[in-house]
Amino acid sequence: MFRNIICCVDGSRHSERAAQAASELAARFDAKLTFLTVTKELKVNEAVKRYIELEKLSGGLEYVLDEMTEQILDAAKACAERCGVRGFKTEVKVGPPARTIVQFAERTKADTIVMGRRGVGDVEGALLGSVSHKVSSLASCGVVTVK
Ligand SMILES: Nc1ncnc2c1ncn2[C@@H]1O[C@H](COP(=O)(O)OP(=O)(O)OP(=O)(O)O)[C@@H](O)[C@H]1O
Ligand SMILES: [Mg+2]
Repeated sequence: MFRNIICCVDGSRHSERAAQAASELAARFDAKLTFLTVTKELKVNEAVKRYIELEKLSGGLEYVLDEMTEQILDAAKACAERCGVRGFKTEVKVGPPARTIVQFAERTKADTIVMGRRGVGDVEGALLGSVSHKVSSLASCGVVTVK
């Protein structure tokens, strides 16, 4: 365990803590570390498209989204660097988050997935968010959820 770690980041403060934990683990065990963020395929309605055109948002919605993804991964990278992790990577995938995370973990033969217990949704009531819940049930490797 702790040779090939995936850390799931969605820009929430919970996932920042997951990035910290994953970075500390990777540094301690000299493990491979990949930060993964999953973005949804965009289904934009006509009103939103028109708004983007009218406001002349440079590059359109895709650009805005890329900026967000970039920021999420930049924060994770900075964390890994602070912790002295050697050889970490970042990945962006499109699809349903939980399934995509589990598939990616299987394909890359990860032994551990590190993620937050809650994400950007952060709805009170449930103990786990739906993504962390699904990943811990579906993954065949270890899952560390960070509070
Ligand atoms: N799209 C995503 N890409 C990568 N990691 C994600 C993504 N969504 C969630 N995660 C990971 O899962 C953790 C828990 O988030 P989750 O989405 O399960 O909780 P939530 O947002 O509070 O609930 P929900 O999404 O069900 O409203 C996050 O801290 C992050 O590590
Ligand atoms: Mg969420």
